[in-house]
Amino acid sequence: MGFCPQCGNPDPLIEMGDRVSKRAKPAESVPLSRAVSDEADRITTGWREVDRVLGGGTVRGSVLLLGGEPGVGKSTLLLQLAGAMAQQDSTVLIASAEESIQQVALRASRLGIDSDLVELTADDDVDAIVAVAQRARPDLLVIDSIQSVGVPEIPSAPGGVAQVRESAARLIRLAKTTGIIVVLVGHVTKDGGLAGPKILEHMVDVVLYLEGDPDRGFRVLRSIKNRFGATHISGMFDMRSDGLVEVDDPSKVFLQGWESDVPGTVVFPAVEGRRSVLVEVQALVTPTNQPLPRRSIRGLETARVNQVIAVLQRHADLQIQDKEVYVNVVGGWRLDEPGSDLPTALAIASSALDVPLRRLAAWGEIGLAGEVRSIPFEARRLEELNRMGLDNRIAPGAGESLRLVDALGRAGLRQDD
Ligand code: TYD
Ligand code: MG
Repeated sequence: MGFCPQCGNPDPLIEMGDRVSKRAKPAESVPLSRAVSDEADRITTGWREVDRVLGGGTVRGSVLLLGGEPGVGKSTLLLQLAGAMAQQDSTVLIASAEESIQQVALRASRLGIDSDLVELTADDDVDAIVAVAQRARPDLLVIDSIQSVGVPEIPSAPGGVAQVRESAARLIRLAKTTGIIVVLVGHVTKDGGLAGPKILEHMVDVVLYLEGDPDRGFRVLRSIKNRFGATHISGMFDMRSDGLVEVDDPSKVFLQGWESDVPGTVVFPAVEGRRSVLVEVQALVTPTNQPLPRRSIRGLETARVNQVIAVLQRHADLQIQDKEVYVNVVGGWRLDEPGSDLPTALAIASSALDVPLRRLAAWGEIGLAGEVRSIPFEARRLEELNRMGLDNRIAPGAGESLRLVDALGRAGLRQDD
């Protein structure tokens, strides 16, 4: 039209001409068969438990996000990882905008790490960090944390969405162009809030979370996303005075304090990756005067537990709508297999009826019609139960299903007896 239809002013309309019509340089394409990357690019960190969670080490040029609550041990884990990598002659640059160089060095000496292959900087300007990394070319660059670094062009303070996103974008570009492995530390709050990590999850290659059990010193490292390996693999660590130490036999640790003669506790043989871990599922059902009884759930998906409670009420006639229900997975472990349904149901019913289950292990997915279905990897679960000497089990056989009421009956949880 040559003028603005709203104000009549011809000025705001500027013809872009060439700039719009200029053709983009054609993107490069390669045949699929030649695009296969070299698996030799995978490097191990030298720390067995971390390598396992990463699916056998990590890949050059990849970007990892390590999330967790403040104080859970992210900086400690990465410092120890830096030490482990330095022992394999890899170089590491730690950009610690959160703690001073002296603080990091002090902690490193407490952890027995003094290699010159680990360098520190306390700069919080992403471009300055990128520049030093481009010059030094470390194998691993740690940004501790993404919420405390920023770029000067964006006026808002570090930690805001715009800053976090732009800083991450520049560091990701660094990783992709140089092959440096970049680890971004991101703080999350209890409810998973805080701008940082969540908005980065889709931008990075690997997302790890470090979670702690408030009751014990255990820490669980879980992979939520991994473009180079399997996800939902957990590694277990013990936080000691000399740092994080991997727990070799989690099943044994979990079962050590197991009070199996108290009502409301069952073992679930969880499977993740190639191993099975026996974890205790606990429930406590108590009367309350509150009009809306509490449902407190730790270590399991809330929606799943609510569904199990609904099925128990409808198909097993377990009336607990006026009671508080607490469900907990021991040791800070988190279960995301549907097979935890049956142990959850048995623990709740056992507590509600005040009948102990006596060293019982159970697994199976509960459907809305009150049926319990089999779940995969039965052999792996059985093997771990055999190893730990637990032979009291309730589960549908492979490919079979079971009525929930019958499962309760077999556990001695029939209300009419
Ligand atoms: P830190 O790694 O600073 O947590 P984050 O970086 O996730 O905020 O961990 C701090 C906690 O770890 C602190 O409470 C002390 C504890 N800790 C130990 O118990 N042993 C150790 O060897 C170290 C270094 C820390
Ligand atoms: Mg820290």
